[in-house]
Amino acid sequence: MRNKFLPFSPPLIEDDEINEVIHTLRSDWITTGPKVKQFEKEFADFTGAPSALAVSSATDALQLSLAAFDVGAGDEVITTTFTFCSTIHVIEHIGAKPVLVDIEEKTLTIHPDMVIQKINKKTKAIIPVHIYGHPCRMDELTDIARKYSLILIEDAAHALPSYHNGRLIGSPIKGIRWASCFSFYATKNITTAEGGMITGEESFIDKARIWSLHGMSKDAWKRYSGSGSWHYEVVVPGFKCNMTDIQASIGIHQLKKLLKFQKRRREIAEMYNSAFANIPELELPHVRTDCEHSWHIYAIRLNLNMLSINRDQFIDELLKRNIGASVHFIPNHIQPYYRNKYGYKPEDFPVAWREYFRLISLPIYPRMSNDDVNDVIEAVLDIVNKHKR
Ligand SMILES: Cc1ncc(COP(=O)(O)O)c(C=O)c1O
Repeated sequence: MRNKFLPFSPPLIEDDEINEVIHTLRSDWITTGPKVKQFEKEFADFTGAPSALAVSSATDALQLSLAAFDVGAGDEVITTTFTFCSTIHVIEHIGAKPVLVDIEEKTLTIHPDMVIQKINKKTKAIIPVHIYGHPCRMDELTDIARKYSLILIEDAAHALPSYHNGRLIGSPIKGIRWASCFSFYATKNITTAEGGMITGEESFIDKARIWSLHGMSKDAWKRYSGSGSWHYEVVVPGFKCNMTDIQASIGIHQLKKLLKFQKRRREIAEMYNSAFANIPELELPHVRTDCEHSWHIYAIRLNLNMLSINRDQFIDELLKRNIGASVHFIPNHIQPYYRNKYGYKPEDFPVAWREYFRLISLPIYPRMSNDDVNDVIEAVLDIVNKHKR
């Protein structure tokens, strides 16, 4: 057994990020400035998007996107119960109504047929969540958005880099209004400690940029620099969620390493897949053949009828063996706020409700050595062997 605790998901920060932050701190320009511009440009180039806007989190990216697409009071936005709570909170924040739907059993992504069932005259947008880094059925969702003139805002917090049918998530979606929202939270595939990015068409990103800085007219961030002007106009009641140059200093170097990080995540996923392939007590992640997974989260599902312990006890057993684990996510319709406001019952979304009790996210991150991965494998197999029914 390991004698040192293996954390669930620590970041990988090296000297180049640290030196860039120091350079920024010494530069006299620490908030939104040239490094944010560089990060935005390099991110847009990486995804192939016409434009990108760096912000303080994916939560803000989602909220800004809704605001910049003029979604608000009286509108409905369809998303899934099986996501992090902030995907849904932002719809509440802008005064629209979140309309939740269930997920597909295998990939745990939003079910396009269920989306169709919820569309009515008030529906304005869909927020598909590429959960764990597995892309939703974007072709079908794009057809639905086109047919009903809806906006598609991708929650791509986990999906860097993920591909569906050859399309890198974050690149343009033809024929509809779209935006993609990424997270650089500390556990994400690349980090800026806290941070996020929106990709979209140029005119949309220009509008979102104004919403991100108090609703102040173009280039307000420059107003204290030599090339800026003190004068500004407030054109919308905007938010305050611009990214700082300190955060972008980290992001610029993390982005350069993304494909290297990704290769390591894939190797770890393959090690888990082959070690657990013939263990009937475990169900492994499903990846549709038209998708490439970002492996942000590697979640196994327990076949509970073959085990004498439940999911929570399984996680306790992992902890006893010094392995960190987690659960993604508690379905939001059972959270008190949403349950009380909308009167949801657990069985309203039977797939999310049932699968939630079987899920365990195992550690997966570039800093893990092969020995770390083997320790996780050994611990999981040991628990299964000791608690077979
Ligand atoms: C699916 C999903 N959406 C949105 C977010 C929000 O990201 P952030 O912490 O950058 O606001 C998260 C965060 O973990 C997430 O998992």
